[in-house]
Amino acid sequence: MNSAKITARWAFNVSEWNPSDKQYNQTLLCVQPEESERIKRFKFFNDSKLALAGRLLTRYLFCKVYECDWREIRLGRTKENKPILLKPKALIGGNKYVNFNISHHGNWVVLVAGENCQIGVDVAEIEKFSNKTIQQMFEIFKDQFSEHELSVMTTPQEESQQLHMFYRHWCLKESYVKAVGVGLATNLKSIEFHLSDEERENFFTVDNSKIINTKTTVYINNKPQRQWKFEEMYLDELHLVGIAYCGLNNCEDCSNIEIDGFNKIELEELLKYSKEL
Ligand SMILES: CC(C)(COP(=O)(O)OP(=O)(O)OC[C@H]1O[C@@H](n2cnc3c(N)ncnc32)[C@H](O)[C@@H]1OP(=O)(O)O)[C@@H](O)C(=O)NCCC(=O)NCCS
Repeated sequence: MNSAKITARWAFNVSEWNPSDKQYNQTLLCVQPEESERIKRFKFFNDSKLALAGRLLTRYLFCKVYECDWREIRLGRTKENKPILLKPKALIGGNKYVNFNISHHGNWVVLVAGENCQIGVDVAEIEKFSNKTIQQMFEIFKDQFSEHELSVMTTPQEESQQLHMFYRHWCLKESYVKAVGVGLATNLKSIEFHLSDEERENFFTVDNSKIINTKTTVYINNKPQRQWKFEEMYLDELHLVGIAYCGLNNCEDCSNIEIDGFNKIELEELLKYSKEL
């Protein structure tokens, strides 16, 4: 049995990237044409930057960790739209199967990668939906959360803590769905998260900003799936991130994976290996 490992937990803050038009267009040439075309279609520049940074971070992963040349990397998508590696083939078979996942929201793009495991990530900016109260947010998403989850999320007295609870469950659910790669065609209510009692109160404060919650269990159709592991942490006061992973085909062992925080990647580093395609 190959043991699973995590090779990247990286985050890039797009608010610190303010390229000129010329620099931006040059950077667009460093991703596959079908992706640059997609990225150009976004209405808001911030959304384009997030999507572009996601592609750059993925290519940076294969150059930095797996010593590929920028131009030999070929990325594709599954029919559910999940980005996957197509080339080099040596990294998607044999003893080493590299998986990765991207998420972006607010100012942050995050990437996680692992070997011999399924892995998914979700970052969320903790904000109320415009013109909605927290009660209305729970009402809108009541079909996505179970009775148990709704009761846990609404337990804190303070509204701000309910909001954090909402996003904790959101990130957990999305990270799991993204690790499995099924996209939206899933009954989200049947994927139920149980936070451990001791980690329930870990909301963001400066003192506990480095805490990583790891004791959550997922239940699928009421059955615990203990082979699935979760990490949840704050990137900053307003951004929460969840990671889900499980050995490939449920058989590789994830129990020795070292828990760690996210490494923040600077722009110069992100572009270090980039080349025009
Ligand atoms: C598409 C989806 C996989 C993630 O969407 P999201 O949370 O809006 O966006 P994120 O930033 O976390 O993820 C987007 C990235 O995930 C990756 N992705 C896309 N489809 C994916 C899939 N089927 N599986 C895994 N990853 C996927 C892509 O890299 C994508 O970015 P890119 O297109 O720029 O490359 C999907 O789960 C979704 O649309 N969810 C909607 C939100 C919702 O209703 N959530 C309820 C939670 S309770």
